Amino acid sequence: MMKRDFLHITDFTTNEIWETLDLAKEIKGKLKNREDFKPFKDHSLAMIFAKPSARTRVSFETGFSRLGGHALFLGPNDIGIGKREAIKDIARVFSGYNDMIMARLFEHNHMTELAKYASIPVVNGLTDFNHPCQIMADILTIYEHRGHLDNMKIVYVGDGNNIVHSWLHLAARIPFHFTCVCPEGFEPDSEPIKRVEAAGISTVEITHDPKSGVAGADVIYTDVWASMGQKEEAEEREKIFADFQVNSAMMNSTGKETLFMHCLPAERGREVTDAVMESTNSIVFDQAENRMHAQNAIMVKIARLQ
Ligand code: CP
Ligand code: NVA
Repeated sequence: MMKRDFLHITDFTTNEIWETLDLAKEIKGKLKNREDFKPFKDHSLAMIFAKPSARTRVSFETGFSRLGGHALFLGPNDIGIGKREAIKDIARVFSGYNDMIMARLFEHNHMTELAKYASIPVVNGLTDFNHPCQIMADILTIYEHRGHLDNMKIVYVGDGNNIVHSWLHLAARIPFHFTCVCPEGFEPDSEPIKRVEAAGISTVEITHDPKSGVAGADVIYTDVWASMGQKEEAEEREKIFADFQVNSAMMNSTGKETLFMHCLPAERGREVTDAVMESTNSIVFDQAENRMHAQNAIMVKIARLQ
């Protein structure tokens, strides 16, 4: 049997996405009830981080150990992946010690190379291109809050970045309306947009007008204006993105009860105001918690333990 990786949301079929969401809810219930559920007993997870992280590290490490396994943290200065040692060498070395790899890398082709040479499953914990575990946690959170995923309008306001690419990949697997409101020149890549068009189950709108874009939104979602690796552009981007801040006026202009989401870390006062982060419609901390539950389900699924 071929080993399974989770590098993109589209690595899962529509059925597998629904199964993963149901499994996430089931495992979440077991952990909340402190049930004896240890599918990763005697298993180890190598976690490779080339970029900083709070949620990804803590949710994977805690999740894997709660499921009976041992997770090892390797920070940006430990391996020097792709610099001190070739990716394809690390892939095979770790395959000899561990049962699974989770990696957060800069270049997406480094992630695919790691998966290609590893004989154990690889989970993508973010690249410059995408962040599939985040969007699986996000859709789980929306599912829990709404009770269903029918007729959703998700509006992302900000930079057309790795988060947007994973939202688009999800739109190629389950149906919803996705709007990306971004400044000109900051649109998402064309590859994920083409995928949604080819799948033909969701509708996508890319607009530069926040006012019309957020109308009828069930969810307004944002992320930092300058991602990891772009922080030197932060000052310039702050001017370009000034009209794209998610504030109370924007949240109240949708004509609907609208949930607020953010993958975090948030830069309060830039892409989102403190008031919106703290509002009753903000579900950012449920989202953060669900990183662990969604990832647990993804790992159990690709390890073929359920
Ligand atoms: N959302 C997210 O991936 O957070 P970290 O960068 O802290 O892991
Ligand atoms: N777009 C952000 C997401 C962080 C979770 C970044 O890549 O820095």
